[in-house]
Amino acid sequence: MNILFLGDIVGKGGRQAVLEMAPLLKKEFNCQFVVANAENVASGAGLSAKCIQEMTKEIDVFTSGDHVWDQKNFVSEIKQFTNVLRPGNVSKVQPGKCFGTFRNPACGEIAVINLLGRVFMRDGASCPFETADKILNEIPSNINCVIVDFHAEATSEKAAMAHFLDGRVTAVIGTHTHVQTNDCKILPKGTAFISDAGMAGAEYSILGRTVDSVLRKFISGMPERLPVVETGIRVDGVVISYGSNGRAATGIKTFSRISSI
Ligand SMILES: [Fe+2]
Ligand SMILES: [Fe+2]
Repeated sequence: MNILFLGDIVGKGGRQAVLEMAPLLKKEFNCQFVVANAENVASGAGLSAKCIQEMTKEIDVFTSGDHVWDQKNFVSEIKQFTNVLRPGNVSKVQPGKCFGTFRNPACGEIAVINLLGRVFMRDGASCPFETADKILNEIPSNINCVIVDFHAEATSEKAAMAHFLDGRVTAVIGTHTHVQTNDCKILPKGTAFISDAGMAGAEYSILGRTVDSVLRKFISGMPERLPVVETGIRVDGVVISYGSNGRAATGIKTFSRISSI
């Protein structure tokens, strides 16, 4: 079985590019299930019910990250979705859920978990390792595909999580930096890992934002509006393969494709 995992989808251009490319990628890689990080799906910052509804025909489960509450309405909207996750290692008062099991006719049951890193991130997250242990205790042992989206900045923290969970989950996929890394591998006990899946965002941009605005911000050190680039969109992600040998992955490979958007 093969799962398509897409990095952070940025804005309208990212959404359109994913709607165009996901059917082609699913066919090319024979994927039966799609997970995507949606923390930037609404105007580049946060999520909205409308965007999730628009993307649901191509994506089975949406994960998120530090930008999950950037759109105020989503605090109430998240409750209507069973397939949208917010990070788990945050205050219990936050609405929504951080993991779920999803039934797919071709793959059986798949569990997806969303966690937030703490290194070089805003405050507010508790220990992701402790939370991972707690969540895994709640996932039935007969589910042989468990995917973790570890939304974090530091490659060290992401690699540490992957080794911490090696043999206990099918894949630990990093998100958040919007830059795809060249380190995908299967760890000794069978867990597939990559530090960052990348993004669905503009090829000629800085993390999906206009080059000029980001440069002004860095050079002036002053607040700056950072418009999203909506054309020239590249779609990055990974394909995770697994069989029936416990939770072990059998493969992980990256892709990065320029869309027509
Ligand atoms: Fe993020
Ligand atoms: Fe992001």
